[in-house]
Order: sequence, then structure tokens, then C-alpha cells
Amino acid sequence: MIKILVTGASGQLGQTFKDIRLEYPNLDFVFLDSKQLDITDKLSIEKGFSLSNFDFCINCAAYTNVDQAEKTPAIAYKVNGEGVKNMALACKENNVTLIHISTDYVFDGEKTGPYTIEDTPNPINEYGKSKLAGEKYIQEILDKYYIIRTSWLYSKIHGKNFYRTILQKAKNGDLIKVTDEQIGCPTDTINLSEFILELIINHSSKFGMFHYTDNKPFTWYNFAESIISYNKLDSSKLLVLDRNYRTFANRPRYSVLKTN
Ligand SMILES: NC(=O)c1ccc[n+]([C@@H]2O[C@H](COP(=O)([O-])OP(=O)(O)OC[C@H]3O[C@@H](n4cnc5c(N)ncnc54)[C@H](OP(=O)(O)O)[C@@H]3O)[C@@H](O)[C@H]2O)c1
Repeated sequence: MIKILVTGASGQLGQTFKDIRLEYPNLDFVFLDSKQLDITDKLSIEKGFSLSNFDFCINCAAYTNVDQAEKTPAIAYKVNGEGVKNMALACKENNVTLIHISTDYVFDGEKTGPYTIEDTPNPINEYGKSKLAGEKYIQEILDKYYIIRTSWLYSKIHGKNFYRTILQKAKNGDLIKVTDEQIGCPTDTINLSEFILELIINHSSKFGMFHYTDNKPFTWYNFAESIISYNKLDSSKLLVLDRNYRTFANRPRYSVLKTN
């Protein structure tokens, strides 16, 4: 049996691993949420790692509120930077392979073609900077790691995300104003979690940086259209293009990742 620790287990990605775990009878999971394992607390991490002889740790724990990170960057850094450093050190000490999730928001969005793993990150918001800090700690501390950058992550059934917000509004018959000023690749948590578990099962020894998305670029407007039509609702009366939509944090204009 391959033993896997999943941190941040109550987030949308963590919950997706829980949903699909029965499809992987050779994988033995321990799921710990933020109360059971706080990645900013070294004692809590030690306690978590002592539960078993883990082979892998999938770190789904993160501070993911992009606008709030702009207002309170120290908290974002504490989790996405220092917390990830703690996890990398614990993995080194316990000889555990770390699988960590990072983001398209490490890039500035100025490129006109997909970002490759060779492209130099240049985050334009505090969330992206804090996630980049986490990536750097892992690369400094560990040899055996996978950092998987993904984008526009959503679960159809868990958490608060664009997919679920748009669907709820459409079901309510609300007017939905959406921007078309950003382009990225929406990624279903099911596909990402299956990709990660395949990496584990195939004993991939190609460690390092990966880009994984569902590989279909959308604007938020196009994505909203496709969510509404996928759910057999009519977008024509509900959906309005909003060119004045502004958020507190800057977001990359174009953040399509070239998958590898
Ligand atoms: N969502 C996206 O669009 C997106 C895009 C690209 C990459 N990512 C990355 O994908 C990963 C998974 O994201 P997600 O969408 O599943 O996020 P999520 O739903 O916000 O889940 C994050 C989880 O981390 C937990 N957490 C926060 N602080 C923690 C701490 N100090 N110790 C332990 N756990 C802590 C949260 O627990 P509480 O709720 O109890 O605080 C939450 O359950 C993250 O690394 C994120 O940066 C996300």
C-alpha cells in the first residue's frame, strides 16, 4: 500500500481526493483538515506526520483568497510561504515525497502564448507572490518533489468557486455580469486529482515542476456561458458582458499554462 497524507483536506481539492479515493484501492489516505494539521504550526505538522509512515504528502492547504491576500499579505505569506517551508522540511525529515499545488498567478499575464515551466514567474499580486515564495522553499529544501501549477480550479460540488456561483445565479434567474478581460484554463478538481494520483501510481521519478490544466482556454465570460449551457439553462437573458469589472487584487490578463 502507498501511504498518502492529504493536508488542507476540507478545501475543494482535498474533498475531491476524498470523493475519488475508493477508485484507488492500493492507495491508503489520511486526510487532515486545517484544525488537525495547521501547516503554520510545526508541532501540529509533527503530530500529523507521526500518524503513519507516509510515502507522499499532497499539500492542498493554502491561503486562496486572492483579494484578501492583497489587504493582509502577511497572512498569505505565513501560509503559502512559511507554511509550505514547514511542510518541505517535514517531508525531508520523514523522507516523504511532497506534491504541492501552485498557481498560474505566479505569472504576470503579459505573454501572448501559453506559459511554459521555463518561463520566469513575475507575480502581480500578493497571492501570487506568496505562492511563488512557497515554490522556492520547496526547490531549495527538497530533491523529491512535484510542484503542480494549475489554474482557475473548480469543483462542481465542493467549495465556493466560479462554477458554483454562476450556476446558482443562473438557477435563481439572476442577471450575471462577467468580464472577458482575462483568459485562462478552467480546471476541474477531479481531473487534477486524477492526474496527481496517476503520478503516484506510475512511480514517476521525473520530479520537479509541472503545469496541469484542462487545456481549454476561456475568458470568464465564455466559461460562464459554457457552465450555463452545460447545465441546460438559457444564457441569452441572464449573461451580460461587463467591461468595467474590477477586483481589489490585479489578476494576470492571460494565464494559460502550457501543460507538460
Ligand atoms: N482555486 C483556484 O482557482 C486555484 C487556482 C490555482 C491553484 N490553486 C491552488 O490549488 C490548491 C488547492 O486550492 P483549493 O481551491 O482547493 O483551495 P480551498 O478550497 O481554499 O482550500 C484550501 C484549504 O487550505 C486550508 N488551509 C488554510 N490555511 C491552512 C493552514 N494554515 N493549515 C492547514 N490548512 C490550511 C483551508 O482550511 P480552512 O478552510 O479551514 O481555512 C482549506 O480547506 C491551493 O494550493 C491553491 O493555491 C487554486
